[in-house]
Amino acid sequence: MADVKRVFTVNGKPFFPVGGQSRNSSGYNDAESETAFKAVKLFHGNTLEIPVYWEQIEPEEGRFDFASVDQLLGSARRYGVKLVLLWFGTWKNGDMDYAPAWVKTNPERFKRVISPTGTAIWVLSSHCPATFEADRGAFVALCRHLKANDGVERTVVALQVENEPGILGSDRDYGPEGQAAFDGPVPADLVARLQAAGHGPVYDLWQAVGGPESGTWPQLFGWAAGELMTAWTIATYIDRLAEAGKAAYDLPMYINVWLGEQGWAMPGETYPSGGAVGRVLDIYKAFTPHVDLIAPDIYVADARGYEAMCALYARDDNPLFVPESAPGGSNTWAMFRAVADYNAIGYAFFAVEHLFAEDGSPRAELAPLVDSFRCLAAATPLLLKYQGTGRVHAVVQEEGLSSLRLPLDGWLGLVQFGAGPLGWNHKDWRHLPKQPPAQAEDRRGRGLVIQAGRDEFYLVGADYWLVLRPQLPPQQALDASLVKDFLLPRQAHYVSVDEGHFDADGEFVVDRRRNGDEVDGGVWVEPDCGVVRVLLCD
Ligand code: DGJ
Repeated sequence: MADVKRVFTVNGKPFFPVGGQSRNSSGYNDAESETAFKAVKLFHGNTLEIPVYWEQIEPEEGRFDFASVDQLLGSARRYGVKLVLLWFGTWKNGDMDYAPAWVKTNPERFKRVISPTGTAIWVLSSHCPATFEADRGAFVALCRHLKANDGVERTVVALQVENEPGILGSDRDYGPEGQAAFDGPVPADLVARLQAAGHGPVYDLWQAVGGPESGTWPQLFGWAAGELMTAWTIATYIDRLAEAGKAAYDLPMYINVWLGEQGWAMPGETYPSGGAVGRVLDIYKAFTPHVDLIAPDIYVADARGYEAMCALYARDDNPLFVPESAPGGSNTWAMFRAVADYNAIGYAFFAVEHLFAEDGSPRAELAPLVDSFRCLAAATPLLLKYQGTGRVHAVVQEEGLSSLRLPLDGWLGLVQFGAGPLGWNHKDWRHLPKQPPAQAEDRRGRGLVIQAGRDEFYLVGADYWLVLRPQLPPQQALDASLVKDFLLPRQAHYVSVDEGHFDADGEFVVDRRRNGDEVDGGVWVEPDCGVVRVLLCD
């Protein structure tokens, strides 16, 4: 049984963010952020992730203007959602777009990364103390402001420090400071940690050149030295920001990652070099003690690739938090894997405003995504309780899958997709499928089955049936089959099947009881059902 490390809290209690991330320019003012707040409410989310821009809060060096931050706090309270603020400082997607004009226009003081060809590129160098001092000053000012204006109400539940940090356009900084670091000694504590760990990608790179006990970056890490040195430099840079920020206001802080495993997997070319990709994750985990977690932005559409990324970042020393994911597509069902199989402690998708068309109406094609996030939101009290116990099961209709047997305690459980045991003409008039799945290629059965006790189940999701049977020896199972007027195995005996929701205290509230025809053939689940509770007896 894995212990799930909770990072986010509200009123001293664990909190599961179900959120949307705004588009990049939505944090500038109220008019821009309004749609984002509305979109989060549309799927019953509890959190909006939205940027705070260094260029906006410090338009002149040392002069701070927190009007935009105050607007966000006010709106979030009005809408009743929590905030995760994204610090767009030194880095935004491997470049420097959000640095203030006084930083952008002074490359002599705020050094740029120099590429291998000697070009100064649009990335601030992590080897430049002036840039670090300036970013730290602004970040600490932000933290102080939040403490003074939100320290009691606690609308902000976490800070993302920088955004997808790293260098796009070079594997490292070839300028004089960067070169000196590259030719300098690898920190002894990094070598000591590698020795102690005895495995991992960084360890393997070190061993590949013979595992020398000391030396320069290229002496210890060969061809990968540029990326590894940059990772160490950026990790320690951000950790020092987080340390200073936490000293001002102790909030959870995390770093997000532009994933590096897709495509050519070339540092500086297909992803920002020095970001916390798989190859250097061990460096980040070892050298960011003031950062609560490293969070992957997962836009991977194929099931295997998606799961590989979950597996990479869900570690004993790093709970999985997905701050960005795709606004649609396979994320509509894959998200349940992250939550059930990798114990994700929070989940959000990017470009939340996209839920609305320009005329303000909800986009019909994104209704499945909205449904999935509503289901997730409805299940959070259960997730906080049962993740890590083996009782949370993902229901994901992978391509071509028609049924899925669940490893339940004391019962047999089969999830059926498609027409279900009774065909689409099933008997519960309230929750008729909106459209048969055969007509909707991008629609999949999905959700969660949570076994709270031997005889107590909770179901959320869309487009699936759960059929439960007693666990009987084969000969008794045969005797008990073919009951009623259907060619169906004997189902478990229901004490009750109820549709409902959890109240603010986490108590289940029944909204509708199902019995008789409405449960013949299994328990049908779709988003309008809310949370379905099934109580069984022998
Ligand atoms: C990831 C970044 O973190 C976001 O700010 C945004 O640029 C998205 N990519 C766009 O897909």
